[in-house]
Amino acid sequence: MTTQDSLYVLRGKHIVLGITGGIAAYKSAILLRLLIKAGAEVQVVMTPAGKQMITPATMASLSGKPVVSEFFAANTGEWHSHVDLGLWADVMIVAPATACTIGKMAAGVADNMLVTTYLSAKEHVMIAPAMDLDMWAHPSTQRNIATLRADGVEIIEPGSGELASHLVGKGRMAEPEEIAARIAAYFRRKQSMKGRHILVTAGPTFEDIDPVRFIGNYSSGKMGFAIAAECAARGAEVTLVSGPVSLATPAGVKRIDVRSAREMLEACQSVWLAADTAVMAAAVADYRPAHPADRKIKREREGDIVIELIKNPDIAAALGSAKRKGQLLMGFALETDTETANALDKMRRKNLDMIVLNSLRDPEAGFMKDTNKVSVIRADGARTDYDAKLKTEVAADIADCLEYPVD
Ligand code: CTP
Repeated sequence: MTTQDSLYVLRGKHIVLGITGGIAAYKSAILLRLLIKAGAEVQVVMTPAGKQMITPATMASLSGKPVVSEFFAANTGEWHSHVDLGLWADVMIVAPATACTIGKMAAGVADNMLVTTYLSAKEHVMIAPAMDLDMWAHPSTQRNIATLRADGVEIIEPGSGELASHLVGKGRMAEPEEIAARIAAYFRRKQSMKGRHILVTAGPTFEDIDPVRFIGNYSSGKMGFAIAAECAARGAEVTLVSGPVSLATPAGVKRIDVRSAREMLEACQSVWLAADTAVMAAAVADYRPAHPADRKIKREREGDIVIELIKNPDIAAALGSAKRKGQLLMGFALETDTETANALDKMRRKNLDMIVLNSLRDPEAGFMKDTNKVSVIRADGARTDYDAKLKTEVAADIADCLEYPVD
């Protein structure tokens, strides 16, 4: 998994990034960039000393928002509401956090915008301390750190190494990647899908013709894997039933590998007994050879070959007919024409609660791509059309639909 993959839980999150007057502030620009790239909205708040270390212009350009530093805007005299900022923030991170700011936070000395915002923050607060080794080791700093910890602040411990003073020891701010990962880990822990058990099918099925040949399709499994990863990141117990794909199992996901539609059906039926939700993202082969050869079919045979195909079980329909009260069943429809009518018809036939429609006519949608463009249609006909986006982002939209099945 790349850093950016593991950060997608930050998408749409409101983050206050506090910057104080440590030389490590130059690394805060990289942290800000990582958060923005992951899709977070970031409001930078700087102390006067922080502004000496890195320019507000840099941070404003990277965040796309003016930096907040004073209680009153210099040009308009407008009051910056630390209370509103504190309410807005889903998380506040102070990086770097100097010994001075740590002391003020511990004592509640609200003489600047950053500490007042901290005192108004309703959600989680994290700090990444950065200072010289003697300052870090000083009993007063350690006392303040212990106070903040007791107040529920998460401390991202500084690392050891060469410091800006050229002294070697503990005090170096954690790297931006580590800080971003810790923020992402916090949101994962929040576990909005905790208690849910979600079955996801993904990938193609392969239907054997003989021991070396099969009928398959171009499904890469990316969409189903992204959905499994997103639901697991939100705290759900996820069982991923996957056809043959070359993808790594997402963190925290239980995976069952299958090959044929019949194997997939068997795995799904047993998981469905305990799951509350199923997302049928697999591209299941509708037909299979009636008489697969148990030895390789040889070329020397006389004449042509006709392969008789028989119908495979419909896994979504089987789960639909076994659906119990409270279970939620989501299907997919990949269509080339009369998309909406076909999708509605599939939803009814398979007893689905929702269907994700993607059209092969959209250049951003379909097999083996990293992007997708979908519409979600609910059983009552309500429809949401989404823009083309990365499959990891589509997975977040789909997970939102699973969290809030009724608009
Ligand atoms: N599906 C399934 N088992 C099958 C066929 C499809 O579980 N044997 C599921 C797919 O995972 C998807 C939905 O049913 O969620 C619709 O799949 P699709 O292939 O679009 O529909 P079909 O019923 O196969 O109809 P058609 O191929 O005629 O469009």
